[in-house]
Amino acid sequence: MSDAFIVSNGCGGEATAQVALVLEQHGRRSRAVETVAALAADPVFLGARRRAVILLAREASAETEAELVAFIEGPGRGTATIYVADSLAAATYKRLLRGGGEWLTREALRRELPEALRRIESGFAEEDAPAGAVITAFLPAKGGVGNTMLAAECGFAAAHRSAKAGGRVAVIDLNVQSAALADRLDLEARLDFSEILGRPERLDARLAEIFAAHHDSGLDVYASASRALVFEEVNGRALFALIDRLSQLYAAVHVDLPALRFSWTETLLAGADAVVATGTSDVPALRRLTEDAAMLDRLGVDRKRTVFVVNRCDTTLLGGVARRAEIERALPGREILMIRRDEALATEAADLGRPILEFAPKKPLGRDVRALADRLATTAPAATPPGVRADAA
Ligand SMILES: Nc1ncnc2c1ncn2[C@@H]1O[C@H](COP(=O)(O)OP(=O)(O)OP(=O)(O)O)[C@@H](O)[C@H]1O
Ligand SMILES: [Mg+2]
Repeated sequence: MSDAFIVSNGCGGEATAQVALVLEQHGRRSRAVETVAALAADPVFLGARRRAVILLAREASAETEAELVAFIEGPGRGTATIYVADSLAAATYKRLLRGGGEWLTREALRRELPEALRRIESGFAEEDAPAGAVITAFLPAKGGVGNTMLAAECGFAAAHRSAKAGGRVAVIDLNVQSAALADRLDLEARLDFSEILGRPERLDARLAEIFAAHHDSGLDVYASASRALVFEEVNGRALFALIDRLSQLYAAVHVDLPALRFSWTETLLAGADAVVATGTSDVPALRRLTEDAAMLDRLGVDRKRTVFVVNRCDTTLLGGVARRAEIERALPGREILMIRRDEALATEAADLGRPILEFAPKKPLGRDVRALADRLATTAPAATPPGVRADAA
């Protein structure tokens, strides 16, 4: 099923609410924006894989039709667009159909919208039948919470599991100046962002192979080889091209996000199949986790596909987690996993360049990490395979 967006175009709240109601009656959630320009900049829209847009025309005029054409042939490419207006020029109608869209009159809207959406969605099913990789984003609430360690461990576990099923797993380290993830697995970072920044379409399977660092477990790590790379140079277009490419080559792609947020961060999160939001149990980190929970809701990320991980938890004398009540209060109604602190073991793993799950899976920290990896294994591919990520800025 696609994500539905309503562009109200000055038609007023009532018209918009009516469309939203029809959608809701058919079990569809929708998101309304005022203009096509606002839609084209909306991170939820940019991150959505299959998108249906219901574009209301305030009046049937050449100007609104020009806007429609600019949309379906520009930012709305690959989007199922339903144009609602009382009349439409034949030439515009043809272009709308060519782009996979539909036209409805206002009068027919209520009656025919569900059927039009169904038609559009059956078209999607034919187009992108081969499912892409499951994309899991690891989002740190702040620096140093263990995001990279968890992404590396979960990548290792997923590679192990996938190898049996014949699939491959990749981790992309987006901390482009540190290559910490490659270090954690004692690998040499090989990704050269500068090769793809200007022309992401260059990134074919061969180039991807050159950029991958192979771990014994079968995990492929994509980490920037150059510490001189300036972060602002990593643009959304290149990044989504990389992720799209890798999602065709792998069964699962994990993304280790940096603590700093960028213009593309929300788009990436909105398009991910699963989000692991990581933090620690101190007050500032919990506050950030609460904020991130609100952000993920705003982006429409399904709560069932989001896990909050509170790492480096202290244990009480009885073996329980210290500050459990504070943690649960900060994240009401959320799925939370708590992971114990074990400085000695974490340091040993970093020094050895080996995953904890490989050499100390039975230690308490190893067991906690395993619980997270097992939880992620239950994230099936979203019902909507990847399609339209690469055009985000
Ligand atoms: N449960 C834990 N107990 C003790 N130490 C831990 C634990 N988890 C991670 N660490 C340690 O915390 C440090 C930071 O971990 P890591 O680099 O994974 O964090 P990060 O969130 O990716 O940080 P950065 O903001 O630098 O990217 C590392 O030295 C790591 O070994
Ligand atoms: Mg990190």
